[in-house]
Amino acid sequence: MINKLNELKSKAVESIEKAKTVEALEKIDNTLMGRKVGKLNDILKGIKDLSAKDKALVGKLANEVKTVISEKLEEKKKELNKKTLNDNLEKDFIDVTLPGKKIDQGSLNPISIVQYELEDIFKSMGFMVLDGPELESDYYNFEGLNIPEHHPARDMTDTFYIKSKVKGQKSKVENKQVLRTHTSPVQVRAMLKYGAPMRAVVPGRVFRNEAMDASHEHTFNQLEGLMIDKDISIANIIAVMNKLLTGIFKKDVKTRLRPGFFPFVEPGFELDINCLICGGKGCSVCKQTGWVELLPCGMVHPNVLKAGGINSDEYSGFAFGLGLTRLVMMKYGIDDIRHFASGDLRFLKQFS
Ligand code: DAH
Repeated sequence: MINKLNELKSKAVESIEKAKTVEALEKIDNTLMGRKVGKLNDILKGIKDLSAKDKALVGKLANEVKTVISEKLEEKKKELNKKTLNDNLEKDFIDVTLPGKKIDQGSLNPISIVQYELEDIFKSMGFMVLDGPELESDYYNFEGLNIPEHHPARDMTDTFYIKSKVKGQKSKVENKQVLRTHTSPVQVRAMLKYGAPMRAVVPGRVFRNEAMDASHEHTFNQLEGLMIDKDISIANIIAVMNKLLTGIFKKDVKTRLRPGFFPFVEPGFELDINCLICGGKGCSVCKQTGWVELLPCGMVHPNVLKAGGINSDEYSGFAFGLGLTRLVMMKYGIDDIRHFASGDLRFLKQFS
């Protein structure tokens, strides 16, 4: 029995030392010292058959073994607990002196930047800012704007047609839809919705079937303008345009009007601005003319007013179609239109 006790002691000490977790330690504690299944108790079951002298001897040794094992267990437990604490501390350690993680902030596309500036300028002059559908009906895109089916003006804007069929409609073609070629269709939509008098600008994307190069894209941005009231004349166009240009370029810009043809205005004009690069002396940007074409405009054609449900005897109006993408290119000196939708961060970051 004495041998067994000594053997138990050395084995116990050995396994306690090897234990790696508190749980493992508890298991060892149970198998050694447990009341029902404990190995120590197992050995001591035979003690009742011993002589009184041996009982005292074995009892003393058993107590010693018990104390050694308990102390060893306690000591190991402390050691393991400390280690877990240290491990956790190390894992959760936060060095508050390190610099924080940088959150990358996006920025607006230059087209949006200028669009918002323009919207503010027009709002200050009492214009509403409107939206229109990018997938437009053939009617609003062409017919309502005085461009009938076989009119040669349609050739200027080769576009993408969508064949779709509305429920209950026989032919697909009747409901022809196009990716709008300009923002002008919103002119008629706005007149029908708001009537006269009315002032509105419509920024938005337009689409054309273009061969792409540095100055042509299939998708670009325009800003349409429309002002309808009694006694509107060309003088109003010039006044509004001058206010717009000083607002955008932050300096006085000289303008001139040349005749231009668009079926939805009569008379129609091209508005040029004095070249901002050379100040009008002549350079490669203005092709040595001193002038840069900025936007087409004109007095709204009576047929368009009619399509918009407005009496052209009582009201007149002007409209313009600002090439927003072109304006942005001019303002920032961007030489390739394809940069805008390239998604190249090196380009976009220059405007943040
Ligand atoms: N919608 C025309 C285009 O994209 C531009 C235009 C010309 C708009 C004259 C107008 C206008 O409002 O009066 O080619």
